[in-house]
Amino acid sequence: MILGIETSCDETAAAVITQEGAIRSSVVSSQADLHARYGGVVPEVASRRHLELVVPVVRAALAEGEATLDDVELVAVTAGPGLIGALLVGVAAAKALAWSRRLPLAAVDHLQGHVASLYLEPDPLEPPFVCLLASGGHTLLLDVRDRSARPRVLGSTLDDAAGEAFDKGARLLGLGYPGGAAVDRLAREGDPDAYAFPVARVPGLDFSFSGLKTSLLYAVRELDADEVEPRRADLAASYQRAIVRALVERTREAAASVRAERIAVVGGVAANSELRAALPDAALAPLPLCTDNAAMIASAARFTGAISYPRYLALDAYASSA
Ligand code: KG4
Ligand code: ZN
Repeated sequence: MILGIETSCDETAAAVITQEGAIRSSVVSSQADLHARYGGVVPEVASRRHLELVVPVVRAALAEGEATLDDVELVAVTAGPGLIGALLVGVAAAKALAWSRRLPLAAVDHLQGHVASLYLEPDPLEPPFVCLLASGGHTLLLDVRDRSARPRVLGSTLDDAAGEAFDKGARLLGLGYPGGAAVDRLAREGDPDAYAFPVARVPGLDFSFSGLKTSLLYAVRELDADEVEPRRADLAASYQRAIVRALVERTREAAASVRAERIAVVGGVAANSELRAALPDAALAPLPLCTDNAAMIASAARFTGAISYPRYLALDAYASSA
């Protein structure tokens, strides 16, 4: 059994999976409500909350997985990228648990974790494939050739991440934080052709979303205060359509550039219903595994190699990959 722990942003998560990749439990405690009033994640507030939640969440994952620490053979934890104080809470907890049982520990890269959400039962995906990883912090096109090697980056965003574009749009529309799911829901009631929001086409396989958010801002500003509410669904639908179009076009171009036969989509934005519908032939991470969770971290640990007891006591977290 592998115990996974994830605390890179504002979800405190723990999961128990088998070596074969069957999920026994996946517990995610979101702090979104805690940060909503600030309109975004406050790093120091997140760290403190992780500290309170990490032990109860690990306990809950073990209980739901009908496992005890005696069943755990490997502890896996997100070492980065993410908020450094938040990561340190998970890393310290994982070290303490592994050390107390003389277990090995796997330091997992959060982005590799998102990709490894595709390798879990009941429908594990076999490389090669081109993977769109779209989350609150990243938008990457990856050429995935095997499960263990670091994938080649074919494209990434030059400014905002796709999830960030959703969150900033949601904020402009008064939909609260985090806004991706709220935009998704509201867009279903609106007309995606009501507004023509352009997405900048940059050379190569990269993305740029910051101009889009500015066009939404101008569209909202042009309306009188009492006009915003009745147009909100149309604005959301048109804005979402522009993001989804850019993601789908670039992903198909990336797949063609390396002659990949399969496309996969992971990360929080992979939960978006329009994006899922626009890529019917793609391998899509199951909904509960799109947003941050620890099952994907435990899954990645199966392919990354573990650090033996007690060498990992020197392990450090890292805020960014570069
Ligand atoms: O992967 P994730 O949970 O965290 C990061 O690693 O960043 O992704 C969170 C992002 C947020 O920006 C959130 O607004 C977005 O995923 N998201 C969505 C949807 N659900 C979550 N974006 C669009 N449509 C959704 N249904
Ligand atoms: Zn993530």
